[in-house]
Amino acid sequence: MADLLTYSAVQDFLTTLVPPRPAEMTAMETYAAQTNFPIIGPAAGYACYQTARMIKAKTIFEMGSGYGYSTAWFARAVQENGGGLVHHVVWDEKLSRMAADHLSRLGYEGLIQYHVAEAVAALAETPGPFDLIFNDIEKQDYPKSLPLIKEKLRSGGALIVDNVLWSGRIFDKKDRSAATEGVREFTRSITQDPDWIVSLIPVRDGVIVAYKK
Ligand SMILES: C[S@@+](CC[C@H](N)C(=O)[O-])C[C@H]1O[C@@H](n2cnc3c(N)ncnc32)[C@H](O)[C@@H]1O
Repeated sequence: MADLLTYSAVQDFLTTLVPPRPAEMTAMETYAAQTNFPIIGPAAGYACYQTARMIKAKTIFEMGSGYGYSTAWFARAVQENGGGLVHHVVWDEKLSRMAADHLSRLGYEGLIQYHVAEAVAALAETPGPFDLIFNDIEKQDYPKSLPLIKEKLRSGGALIVDNVLWSGRIFDKKDRSAATEGVREFTRSITQDPDWIVSLIPVRDGVIVAYKK
């Protein structure tokens, strides 16, 4: 029985549970698979959407938005929550333009503010507080982002952080790379801080969902 319960079997099963997406979103998934671009994927994206719906998020700040796949899930939640604003932040102009094309075709124009910028600096400069913050930046920068995220998130808000299992590299004691250490340190800090209620959801590459008390 235990042999049947493999990580990949669980992930494949979780993906089958996600309801059908618009063709534009499945095209974004196909592009990611073809180009090896690390998007959050449908099962984790759906969990992001669900969390944003559950807390009725209207203001969302995304850190490391790529070409807008994770943004599409958050924008859908904000639209269904009655409207608001999702901050799309990526430091690459081309990715920002691609995101604007996809998100306007999905009907989310007017719900997104685009920042071509470093995400921690952009968060520092953008007035909050936010209902939800999503963190998907370079993993070595995770630890330094946490105090600012905590400051900018409202009490009762949610923080979602991608890649906290880091393809299993966090379990490799020999891996002392800045990225792996960054993920380890971030997870240690947030789980030891009594101001947060934190779960690590083993969807795809591992997602932290944290509630700020
Ligand atoms: C892992 S990809 C994820 C994209 C998106 N969150 C999704 O799931 O569809 C992260 C993107 O953010 C960019 N990025 C990483 N660190 C960043 C930072 N500190 N500031 C701005 N962009 C960043 C990367 O270059 C990449 O395009």
